[in-house]
Amino acid sequence: MAIIIKTPKEIEILREGGKRLATVLYKVRGIVKPGISTKDLDAYAYKLIKEMGDEPAFLNYLPEGAETPYPASLCVSVNNEVVHGIPSEKKILKEGDIVSLDLGLKHNGLFTDMAITVPVGEVSSGSQKLINTTEKALEVGIDAARGGYRVGDIGAAIEGFVQRHKYGIVEVLAGHGVGKYIHEDPYIPNFGKANTGAKLVPGMVIAIEPMLNNGTKHVDLDRDGWTFRTADAKKSAHFEHTILITDGEPEILTKV
Ligand code: MF3
Ligand code: CO
Repeated sequence: MAIIIKTPKEIEILREGGKRLATVLYKVRGIVKPGISTKDLDAYAYKLIKEMGDEPAFLNYLPEGAETPYPASLCVSVNNEVVHGIPSEKKILKEGDIVSLDLGLKHNGLFTDMAITVPVGEVSSGSQKLINTTEKALEVGIDAARGGYRVGDIGAAIEGFVQRHKYGIVEVLAGHGVGKYIHEDPYIPNFGKANTGAKLVPGMVIAIEPMLNNGTKHVDLDRDGWTFRTADAKKSAHFEHTILITDGEPEILTKV
């Protein structure tokens, strides 16, 4: 698939969609507390999106290679789960957990994608540091995503920043173009070499989404076909924004 450059009209829609998505995701963050089920979070996200007249992008999404469509609106990945955790009423959050909330929204036919990792009640300083560092890694990646730069600059910036910590950077999952589809070219790894890969061009819309593990970079896919977990069962954090490439500073589209 070729890279799809968005028109000014499409960018306007993505800007509005991104704002709606961030609004919903921060509202969902607001109800995270010990005792709530991951299904409750999913149901709340679904309700808020539908109330706005939009569509949850992940519900029934069947990417190439997947055996079953994704069965929910929100990906909820707790502790050692890295991404794509499936919400369940049996899965109850408890004090000290960290939880990645990953949500996609389709507004006027166009997609935006965003994720945050949040603490449940009081968490250990180690967990909080993992969260903070992952969020910072996303910022560093975004800062390298400028017109005229290349895809490898994003991964190199993230990798260079994370090197100062002992975390594993997940390599088998990556960021991506987004907009007309949930996943478009280019594929955007969270590691790599500067000045390599596809050119970043104004009008490109991409999702950058570093996943950092408090241990090994290796992950395993659950038998459910969706949930990725750290191979050593240590905790993982994940942040994601949809951004617009410009001539200068990138514009974060998934912001309130
Ligand atoms: N943000 C996720 C990603 O880019 C979207 C997952 S789609 C789903 O991988 F169907 F798995 F939810
Ligand atoms: Co994504």
